[in-house]
Formats: sequence, C-alpha cells, structure tokens
Amino acid sequence: MRVLLTGGAGFIGSHTAVALLERGHEVIVLDDFSNSSREPIRRVEELCGKQVTLHIADLTNAASTQKVFASESIDAVIHFAGLKSVGESVRDPLLYYRTNLMSTMVLLETMALAKVKKLVFSSSATVYGVAKDVPVSESSEVSYRLSNPYGQTKAMIEQIIRDAVVADSALQIAVLRYFNPVGAHTSGRIGEDPKQTPNNLLPFVSQVAVGLRDFVSVFGGGYDTPDGTGVRDYIHVMDLAEGHLAALAHLKSGVSTYNLGSGIGSSVLDVINTFSRVANRAIPYEVVAAREGDVSCSYADVTKATRELGWSTHRTLEDACRDAWRWQSGNPHGYASQASPRGVLAVSS
Ligand code: UD1
Repeated sequence: MRVLLTGGAGFIGSHTAVALLERGHEVIVLDDFSNSSREPIRRVEELCGKQVTLHIADLTNAASTQKVFASESIDAVIHFAGLKSVGESVRDPLLYYRTNLMSTMVLLETMALAKVKKLVFSSSATVYGVAKDVPVSESSEVSYRLSNPYGQTKAMIEQIIRDAVVADSALQIAVLRYFNPVGAHTSGRIGEDPKQTPNNLLPFVSQVAVGLRDFVSVFGGGYDTPDGTGVRDYIHVMDLAEGHLAALAHLKSGVSTYNLGSGIGSSVLDVINTFSRVANRAIPYEVVAAREGDVSCSYADVTKATRELGWSTHRTLEDACRDAWRWQSGNPHGYASQASPRGVLAVSS
C-alpha cells in the first residue's frame, strides 16, 4: 500500500513510518517541519534501508496539498499533522482552531477530489474529558467542553469526520484515540524531540535523567490513587505504530473509533521509579500543586481494538523507559545533537 503520512516527521509519524516500511508498504510524508525536521526521516530511511518520499507542504494550503495528491498515487492517508501543545493552545486558541481544523478540512476535500477513501486519524483520549469511569471505553461520551482548545480541536475533528462519512458512504475512516504515547524505537535512533520545555511526563523525566533539568515536578500528590499521584495509560510508541497498521488493514465503510492504550494504569511515581531503575540513576522529584485540568486516573478499555483489529500491546512501561533512555542518552539534545549529512530524499516544492 502507498500510504501518505501527514506530519510524518513527528514523534508518532516517524515511528509509524518505520512500522509501515518494515511491513513492505511505501511511505510518502507530507510535513511542513514547523515542529520537526528532515533528520527523523533521514534516520527512518537509514533504519529501514528504504526511501521515503517527502513533500514539504502546508496542509492548510489547498493548492499545495492538491499538488501533492496530483503527483502521487495514494491508497490511504494517516493524518498525524497538527499542533499539540495544551498550554500553547490556551494562549493562542485561534492558531489551534485554524491549524488543526483547516488542515483536516483541506485534507478531506483534497482526498475527495483525488478519490482517496481510506483515512486513519490521530485523535486523543483527551476527548473523553473529565467525567469518566475507568477503564474508559469508546462508548464513553465525547466532551465538547474540554479545558483546552487543543483537546477541543480533536473532538471537533472527530465530529467533522463523522459528518463527512454521512455524506460519502465510500469513505473508510478509523479514528484512533491515543492514550499516553511514550518510549522510542528500540534502536535509539528516533524518538520524541520536544522543541520547548516538555509538557508531558516522559520527555521531562528523560531530560532530568540526562542532566538537562534538575528535577521532575510531580503535579499533585493527593489524588485518590494508590500513591496519590496521577494515573495514566502509557503506551509504547511502537505498539501505537503497529495499531495504525492494524487499523489500516481493517478499514471498513464508515467511521470506526478505537482506543489505543495498554489498558494498564501507572502512576507518576511508577514512571519515575521505572525510569530510574532502567537508567540506573536517581531521578530527583518534588511533589507540587496539581495541574489545572488534570484528571486523577485515566486508562483505556482496549477490548474493541483487540477484538476488531486483532491488535494489543506487547511492550511494557519498562521497555518504553529503556527505549526512551537509549534515545535520550544517545541524543541528549534530540535530533539537534549531531550534525548529519543530508539523506537522499525525493523532495517536492
Ligand atoms: C496531556 C494533555 C492531553 C494530551 C496528552 C498527550 C493536559 C491536561 N492533558 O495528557 O490533552 O492529549 O498530554 O500530549 O495537559 N505530570 C507531572 N509532571 C510533569 C508532567 C506531567 O507530574 O512535568 C503528570 C500529570 O499530572 C499526569 C501524568 O504526569 O498525571 C501524565 O501527564 P502528561 O504526560 O502531560 O499527559 P496527560 O495529562 O495524560
């Protein structure tokens, strides 16, 4: 299959590119590098010994997106592209609504023109909002009153997709609600590379472990959880990548929505202790006030993905911490850690 990955140079996109190439698929990446660079694509090619076709284009621009579709034969699209910083979305909501909504609408319109019917969309467990029972299943209500515009765009895009499918019954779309993607490819060559101070726990812990930061602030110690810290469902990014392949293989008419998580809840202290063990170093932390908008406990009911996609996770939190540590210790400053020769890439525009 020839699969177009929007945002394919990002954290989840680059790992999914590896999984696709390893299974014999062809990968076309459309990215504007606003939050990434060419380097992860170069490393994906190096890891797989295969070429990726790269289009540097802005997905909110209909003309340049149409140009990409006109120049490629595309069987399916995985739509990762989008802004994803919760804090930034609160400070600049219009940027988030414009970028995330516009890019998806341009993509759907361009797919219609090009008669591409298969789509996998990166959604987030954030759409469940705060009122929920754990484990969270796909039948839990989606909240349209989320505490931040980033999450709101995910819920709104899901609705746009559901409406688009009503109008075109030939569309086959999978909406994947990610829980907390962590870890890195086991080679340590690609991984998560936040441009600013990480908002998410794992990259923050990794940066403390490698000495870039002094300590982890644990947001809240008084939750109603076994150790008082927040509980989340951490999923290894390669398990998540494989979830995309399973979703592609099982696409059917209409919209199918799946939780992609491990189904296991781990606390902030579980993460810090596990990382500390695999990295064999102390990770200092301080318990501070809870972060506004956080829920105490969220983990996935993955029954539906297991049953319908034949997919489940194989890697543990320990595997994720070990792989994240291999990536972080080998690339303390992410992809900027070492100057690299330009790879052989087919670049357009
Ligand atoms: C966050 C976002 C969510 C987004 C997801 C993936 C919020 C409220 N939610 O989810 O919308 O889809 O990331 O990008 O921001 N923690 C600390 N110290 C830190 C960072 C995090 O203690 O420095 C704790 C949090 O309180 C939480 C857990 O670690 O209990 C995981 O946090 P995080 O990685 O930010 O993920 P989520 O809060 O689940």
